[in-house]
Amino acid sequence: MMKETKEATVDLKSVKSPKKTEDYAKYFQAPSLKDAKKRGKEEILVHYDFNIPEDMQHIGKGKRYHVRTYGCQMNEHDSETISGILQAMGYTSSDSVEDADVILFNTCAIRENAEDKVFGELGHMKRLKNNNPNLILGVCGCMSQEEKVVKKILKSYQQVDLIFGTHNIHRLPELLRDAMFSKEMVIEVWSKEGDIVENMPKLREGNTKGWVNIMYGCDKFCTYCIVPYTRGKERSRRPEDVIAEVRDLARQGFKEIMLLGQNVNAYGKDFEDIEYGFGDLMDEVRKIDIPRVRFTTSHPRDFDDHLIEVLAKGGNLVEQIHLPVQSGSTEVLKRMARKYSREHYLELVRKIKDAIPNVSLSTDIIVGFPGETDEQFEDTISMVEEVKYEFAYTFIYSPREGTPAAVMEDNVPMEVKKARLYRLNEVLARIALEQNKKLQDQVVEVLVEGESRTNAEVLAGRTRTNKLVHFTGDKSLIGQYVHIKITDAKTWTLHGELVSKVEV
Ligand code: 5AD
Ligand code: SF4
Repeated sequence: MMKETKEATVDLKSVKSPKKTEDYAKYFQAPSLKDAKKRGKEEILVHYDFNIPEDMQHIGKGKRYHVRTYGCQMNEHDSETISGILQAMGYTSSDSVEDADVILFNTCAIRENAEDKVFGELGHMKRLKNNNPNLILGVCGCMSQEEKVVKKILKSYQQVDLIFGTHNIHRLPELLRDAMFSKEMVIEVWSKEGDIVENMPKLREGNTKGWVNIMYGCDKFCTYCIVPYTRGKERSRRPEDVIAEVRDLARQGFKEIMLLGQNVNAYGKDFEDIEYGFGDLMDEVRKIDIPRVRFTTSHPRDFDDHLIEVLAKGGNLVEQIHLPVQSGSTEVLKRMARKYSREHYLELVRKIKDAIPNVSLSTDIIVGFPGETDEQFEDTISMVEEVKYEFAYTFIYSPREGTPAAVMEDNVPMEVKKARLYRLNEVLARIALEQNKKLQDQVVEVLVEGESRTNAEVLAGRTRTNKLVHFTGDKSLIGQYVHIKITDAKTWTLHGELVSKVEV
């Protein structure tokens, strides 16, 4: 096991707003997508000595913070770490931005509309900053890793005090202090980073469902995707660290664990001293006394037979797999650099369905990738019909500057892309309803998560296959497992009646 030996490679510099945005690189080590693309052979260091410097342990006493999170579960989980660090510095959380002393936007760069939303919200923060000059407004997450974003903030969003990257979360205490005592924008974004920082505090919401990172980064470089640039190279946490965290959550009474990684199937490929993959990890997690274990997200190319074999053992490993397909056309998949064909994907689905009866499959699909023909889109529709996904996240392709697809000729008009998305969603909804109807009058096990979003009188929970179930019951059931008889199966929700509480 490696201990921390490496120094920070990039200096922190306060930045005076440059006159011309091209000058900005003079003032600090700029994020660079080009550097972020590089994959070196350096050893991955694991740092176990995270601590908050003494002079910063009380800096937040009597002050409040508000973290706003955009994007995926990885970001949600990073926000739990950010909140944990802030609380360890004495801050307390605030639900509103109005009375916060520190506001952090943990951003997402996956599609343009995600970025537009953040810029819109940052604009609204100007008023708060004018009212309270001591307010610290920070931007972190994937957008901070893009030089064009940092340039834009420097040019047009001077209300921002701090920008830090996805690899710099552990530096938050020092960065906040710098932001407090500096009149200029503080920017620290490491573009190329290969380390893992353990032992950061985490503030988890409740003790029902917990996220656990198993790896960071992505080396797949699908041609449309910005993630390998914003999250760096694939780095797996040591199995003993993952298992210790899951055990700890089990001891705390958590009822469900979600293992997180951009490509969990590549887990362990970066270990140099041990042969240990995702299947091995799941086989150990299976033995921990926690009722449900999920994982996200999978890459079909790396999904191996050993993992299928382990998942087939069932128990706390739920029969639900999110398996992003992106497109049903082999030609489009090739241009996306997904490194599998339609046939390979279907063969994988067949193996999974053979090994895991009642498995529920969900997916991600992009429509309107550059050059996608009507015929190729029809291949996606037939894929959906064939696999019978229970659920899918569907997107219109959004060009991301710096990725190979952004310079591909895109001859698909936006109206065509929108029409394809609409049609695809219609097919998905029909299939979802067909599948849900099969559950009519059946009794399913549900983990009760809370009140339903639309009606506080109704409770909401999820089945092992992640289907949303609504029923009427006492609030004391929140956080418990119950048996529910399905009385009404709708497209995206099941309605039912409480049968009994389940002892787990
Ligand atoms: N445009 C549209 N969708 C994208 N995704 C990733 N990059 C893009 C993009 N540039 C989708 C993929 C991925 C999910 C997390 O987001 O479907 O699986
Ligand atoms: Fe993006 Fe592809 Fe990596 Fe998923 S596997 S994060 S889509 S590059």
